[in-house]
Amino acid sequence: MNMPIKHTADATTVEEGLAIQEEQARFDSKAATEVAMQNTLLTPRFYTTDFDEMDAIDVTPVRADWDKLIAQMEADPNKGHFKKNEDWDHIDWDGMEPGLRKEFIDFLISSCTAEFSGCVLYKEMKRRGNNRDITQLFQLMARDEARHAGFINDALREAGVAVNLGFLTQKKKYTYFRPKFIYYATYLSEKIGYARYITIFRHLEAHPEHRFHPIFKWFREWCNDEFSHGEAFALLMKTDPKLTSGTNVLWIKFFLTAVYATMHVRDHQRPAFHAALGVDPDWYGHEVFTKTSEISKQIFPITLDIDHPRWHAGLKRLQVANADLARARAGSGVGAWLRGLGAQVRAATAFVNLLTIPAKKHAVPVSTRLEPAY
Ligand SMILES: [Fe+2]
Ligand SMILES: [Fe+2]
Repeated sequence: MNMPIKHTADATTVEEGLAIQEEQARFDSKAATEVAMQNTLLTPRFYTTDFDEMDAIDVTPVRADWDKLIAQMEADPNKGHFKKNEDWDHIDWDGMEPGLRKEFIDFLISSCTAEFSGCVLYKEMKRRGNNRDITQLFQLMARDEARHAGFINDALREAGVAVNLGFLTQKKKYTYFRPKFIYYATYLSEKIGYARYITIFRHLEAHPEHRFHPIFKWFREWCNDEFSHGEAFALLMKTDPKLTSGTNVLWIKFFLTAVYATMHVRDHQRPAFHAALGVDPDWYGHEVFTKTSEISKQIFPITLDIDHPRWHAGLKRLQVANADLARARAGSGVGAWLRGLGAQVRAATAFVNLLTIPAKKHAVPVSTRLEPAY
């Protein structure tokens, strides 16, 4: 008798989730995996860090909030959620407009890679650590990200492509970030992930005719997982006030600018996808930045002035420079090389220009804890 294959959604540990994905990897495609392998400024990367330093964190100063958050994650309200059920509508992938199909698959591959990037980083921290608080948290977060990545891969398989996650773990390049940079970058990517998913979910709730794929129906529970992960990083940063004061505020500004700018440029590369959703990428970006900024006040003493006249103009310049760079890279010869160099200089200048916009300062609350409010 054949045992039914367990689903990643039901896996209670990251190890179990990954074993199930390993089993499915036999069917995964080379092309999608190659896209996921790319390392550019705009594609999701895999990270490694100083795990001993992270293991040394003492959560005593935030103990009460910490225990509550961990208990919430242990209760596992989303166990079993990330799999297809009767709400999963059939998708005619072959009938999909080719431009949309291409951008949507690209979106899914990039989201799957980003989810999986969190999974491998969190799993590694759990494996290397001895600090019970830290290993417990990272085990829980890795569990969630393995489910998220597995679910996106389910959707991709229907289109005849899927990312070989085991292959990625072994072969994708890892970028080293010192722990404090991991906190800033990961905190922001969790919170912006929440803001992105909930903004799309609310928009499609109001305009269901634009829901061209069933995966968006899963976004509410999904973003709640990301919200909790962000909460955990906020608490980790709260244990050491130095992380969010002094010269580190400049680093926070750098990461905020980089994360927002990357999102802007990446989203503008997918016009057909946003048109199908009925979303103007500029409106969407502004919504997501507003929510992320509002949330990040829980721990960061500054937010970016996204209504400053130079903000939007700067993002536009960055986006145009990036598009020019991509075109130049597709060409050949000295002319293309020079155009590429020029585009790189313009992109760098636009980014530095964004960095010079004065940030808004504000007081940080005593307790960081927030609940999803959007
Ligand atoms: Fe996730
Ligand atoms: Fe997450």
